[in-house]
Amino acid sequence: MRIAMIGTGYVGLVSGACFSEFGVDTVCVDKDQSKIERLKRGEIPIYEPGLDDLVAKNAKAGRLSFTTDLAEGVRGADAVFIAVGTPSRRGDGHADLSYVYAAAEEIARALDPDSYTVIVTKSTVPVGTGREVARIVRRTRPEADFDVCSNPEFLREGSAIGDFLRPDRVVIGTDSDRARAVMRGLYRPLYLIETPIVMTSLETAELIKYAANTFLATKITFINEIADLCERVGADVHDVAKGIGLDGRIGKKFLHPGPGYGGSCFPKDTLALVRTAADAGSPLRIVETVVDVNDRRKKAMADRVVAACGGSVEGRRIGVLGVTFKPNTDDMRDAPSLDIIPALQAAGAAVHAFDPAGMHEAARMLPDVTWCPDAYAALDGADCAVIITEWNEFRALDLRRVREVMKAPVMVDLRNVYTAEDMEMAGFDYHSIGRPSLLKKPAREQA
Ligand code: UDX
Repeated sequence: MRIAMIGTGYVGLVSGACFSEFGVDTVCVDKDQSKIERLKRGEIPIYEPGLDDLVAKNAKAGRLSFTTDLAEGVRGADAVFIAVGTPSRRGDGHADLSYVYAAAEEIARALDPDSYTVIVTKSTVPVGTGREVARIVRRTRPEADFDVCSNPEFLREGSAIGDFLRPDRVVIGTDSDRARAVMRGLYRPLYLIETPIVMTSLETAELIKYAANTFLATKITFINEIADLCERVGADVHDVAKGIGLDGRIGKKFLHPGPGYGGSCFPKDTLALVRTAADAGSPLRIVETVVDVNDRRKKAMADRVVAACGGSVEGRRIGVLGVTFKPNTDDMRDAPSLDIIPALQAAGAAVHAFDPAGMHEAARMLPDVTWCPDAYAALDGADCAVIITEWNEFRALDLRRVREVMKAPVMVDLRNVYTAEDMEMAGFDYHSIGRPSLLKKPAREQA
């Protein structure tokens, strides 16, 4: 089988490489000439563990190629995937679909007149977009033989390849049996490992994607608020998470408290769903609140650092470990660090920071930060250490060395990488999320 993947952003590139791994002849298309040239040379423009090897292997086997020529990619393809960006539209929070519709029109012009093609939306698109894509293609090429399908992705950055090759489920939304047969063919290797394939209508598949991300964002926000409550009453949020998560109806995952969710999906998709629901006259009050609570939470994280520093960070040096929205990515989109660091700087602190992969990107977004070559350099002379992203290398710091290089042994661990016991025994004034200190009384008793 043969496919074209339009857009070599995160979703397009990972999906294209993974389909070629399934044995599908895959052509990845992008307008960005320099990006295509780099990909042809085997240079991967994003940070995703394992992607370079997967691309190299399949390109060498002749199953994966790159081009700027959309018509060349679409020619002879059984399916054409639209995987272009859908950023939040400035001002109203709706998903910006201009790239999707432009791609649909271009695909329509390039469709083979003698063969059947499935046009698949892989980008996260609001309910109704698939129908609009079909309308655009029909208007542009009334004689074309095609169907439209929604096939949302559920890839997590940092583990996207595993998520694609061994997913919990695949969602395929279309009204056409012919399109379903083509999609089944593309995902054939997953039938062998008995992956559930959820066949639905177009609109249902589109909504499943938003509902999944929104539910997960809600789960995180819930445990974050429970964590705050734990601090007030002297309870331990990890034990609460375990105690509720072992109930199969709730589930253990996505109950890790932190500085608030970020990334390229949750913030954008929760907001887009809120707008869609309001427009449809069926507002999602819970999700509106989740968006608001998460935004406030990210901003409030700087206050924890100020409190740990005795009420002021004026003239203090803060050593920040991790700035990306989560580990194993260089992605800075909606990262909590983008709220926390400027707030600390505005309060008079000098911020020194280290991140294993995100510093290049972060330097463009966070001015006046001193970027350091490693964690110890970032903490050198610091009045307070702040862990914002839980990279593995921050889990095994040499605490004695950290204490030696820091001016004062104060740590704010926004990802609960360490235990209060270990840190307090190592002589740190340690602050984490939703867990009691062994030394300090709960906030309620202090008041
Ligand atoms: C997410 C979805 O998981 C994925 O299915 C979808 O396709 C895209 O959006 P991603 O954005 O890569 O993936 O990251 P994810 O691992 O889901 O984390 C999102 C955010 O939530 C991060 O900021 C992370 O730190 C935070 N998070 C996650 C928590 O704070 N606690 C948790 O328990 C889990």
